[in-house]
Amino acid sequence: MELREHMEQLSRKDRFPFHMPGHKGRFPSLFGKFDPTELPGLDNLHCSRDVLRRAQNLVADIYGAAKTYFLVNGSSVGIMAAISALARPGDCVLVQRNCHKSVLAGLIHSGAMPVWIEQPFCPRLRHWLPPAPAEVSKLIAAKSIKAAVFTNPDYFGLAPDIAGLADICQREKIAVIVDEAHGAHLAWGQDCGLPKSAVTAGCSVVVQSPHKTLPALTQAAWMHINDAALAEGLQETLNIFHTTSPSYLLLSSLEFAGTWANAHGTAMLRRLNMLAKALYLRSRQLDLDFRQPAYNRDWTKFLLPNRRGLVKLLYSQGIYPELVQGDKVLFMLTMADALETKGIAALYRILPLIASLPGRPVVEIAPPPLPRQEITPREAWLRPGEIVPLHKALGRIARQVLAPYPPGTMVIGPGQRLEQEHVQYLQKLHAKKVIPQWLEVI
Ligand SMILES: Cc1ncc(COP(=O)(O)O)c(C=O)c1O
Repeated sequence: MELREHMEQLSRKDRFPFHMPGHKGRFPSLFGKFDPTELPGLDNLHCSRDVLRRAQNLVADIYGAAKTYFLVNGSSVGIMAAISALARPGDCVLVQRNCHKSVLAGLIHSGAMPVWIEQPFCPRLRHWLPPAPAEVSKLIAAKSIKAAVFTNPDYFGLAPDIAGLADICQREKIAVIVDEAHGAHLAWGQDCGLPKSAVTAGCSVVVQSPHKTLPALTQAAWMHINDAALAEGLQETLNIFHTTSPSYLLLSSLEFAGTWANAHGTAMLRRLNMLAKALYLRSRQLDLDFRQPAYNRDWTKFLLPNRRGLVKLLYSQGIYPELVQGDKVLFMLTMADALETKGIAALYRILPLIASLPGRPVVEIAPPPLPRQEITPREAWLRPGEIVPLHKALGRIARQVLAPYPPGTMVIGPGQRLEQEHVQYLQKLHAKKVIPQWLEVI
């Protein structure tokens, strides 16, 4: 029971988590003693007719979706299933170049060809900006596209003009799948400046991870469907991807998350917004502002510049950020921080100490243009691969998905031809210990 002991030890520490899961351990009633299976009276996730159907319908009503399916393997399973259900071999699917790795898994499974959206790179944030509607229109005009996959918002909180993108695609009868893994809370944040949810923007299929931003257990996610005609095919596909032993702890945490957020979400986000404003203001006064691009952005993703000794300082105060990556540190604020505010107070208190730490040199690594997609991800995946050191990958086609975690954003996908500039880029990432020194190619 070593794992259990470690978990118990961790739970005894006075910690301020600024990372997933969204419940942050503040909802002990979630972790009941019971972990049943499909006993009489508990329905069946694969063909719900009774209590699970009612719970899913309740969440669909809360979000205003035609249908909602509960997921027990995170948004990942929903994204894979949505792409597999809506695209076939030979179909073209519009995809963001900074997509999550589950999108690649969906492309491998479906056999579809990705049409990559080249996105502007923000040198200040060292991160991709969301796709521009004009770029999407151009790609749609040039190719026959079956479905599009957008991210709203991304891991760092940047959101596209999702309604504009949906409109462009729907005019051409292109199904719009939205990876809204980081957006289950958006529905309650419209009066405090959060980006618009893809559910209200009318996108065909929207996959969310309440476990990231609402009080739900890790892996608990759901898929909202606006286009009711797609519901049956999506259920069928989810049934082949999902475990046949779904955890009722996860399922009941979804019912809880939806109901709780519906009752308290607006008030909690308003309160969180006030607390966040204090953090943003103080960090600006102390010149700790990350100077983010003026963009449609989810403010619950709070960024600070990384400093020498910062992580040690944070841990010494029991503060655990979601991500420390190069020159930035990401703190996830959720409704749980409005319920119990001592974590934000602790972070606020040490901002002057953080400001007194010496800076870290910023290593600029500008990514190259997208590699050419020579064959479909599925074709590449099915071919035998060879693991080579990065310098020997020159001129070869990648077989593997290279998406370092967190946050699992794609760097290289199967079927892409690696030219000099791509190999050099990978070598720089390796020098920064972001990726290993090997790559599987064909
Ligand atoms: C943008 C994005 N999409 C999808 C996912 C997958 O979500 P899940 O962990 O719920 O499977 C993640 C996970 O971090 C993510 O960051």
